[in-house]
Amino acid sequence: MRMTTSSFAPAGRLEGTTPPDGPLTREAFRDAMARLGAAVHVVTTDGPGGRAGFTASAVCSVSDTPPTLLVCLNRAASVYPVFEANDTLVVNTLGADQQPLSGLFGGRTPMDERFAAAHWHAGPGGAPRLADAAVAFECRIASRVAAGSHDVLFCDVLAVHLGPTAHGLVYFDRRYHPLLPAPH
Ligand SMILES: Cc1cc2nc3c(=O)[nH]c(=O)nc-3n(C[C@H](O)[C@H](O)[C@H](O)COP(=O)(O)O)c2cc1C
Repeated sequence: MRMTTSSFAPAGRLEGTTPPDGPLTREAFRDAMARLGAAVHVVTTDGPGGRAGFTASAVCSVSDTPPTLLVCLNRAASVYPVFEANDTLVVNTLGADQQPLSGLFGGRTPMDERFAAAHWHAGPGGAPRLADAAVAFECRIASRVAAGSHDVLFCDVLAVHLGPTAHGLVYFDRRYHPLLPAPH
């Protein structure tokens, strides 16, 4: 994988071990996590609780038998009660040209404005699927586990849709980085 940006100024402290004394702080942990590159997703839902979507990087494969992934959702997010009331979601993984959606779904934008910025397909479970997402996972939420500030949603993956883009998008060091295939 080849990053297309030469800007690699690291977040937070440059080097060293934290903490010198006392417990590890939330900020130091977040600075450390900024050094883990992650794909960017817009997670959507619709159902009895209404329609909602939020940007997530805390999405992970759990198992291929059965196909399962997890999504970590902050219980303080405005979308939390909606996801709590619904039992389906779609994980829409963004391509490089869909970066603006990450900002829109990343908070503080009214829900109608978020969805008005893109085209969506109605999935079989009801949750909106982003047209031309790099990949989309149609899921049913199988279980939820509270862990610290977040709920971990374990999701059965019912269908996948592979999109047209070959250019992925990664969030690293608190910035977006488009990915290009390595030259042969
Ligand atoms: C790049 C990026 C990644 C994010 N990853 C997550 C995540 O994995 N889980 C989460 O709960 N919130 C995550 N957020 C924050 C949510 O998108 C945000 O809290 C959500 O849109 C709700 O905001 P609101 O409460 O203002 O509506 C992320 C935001 C950005 C910009």
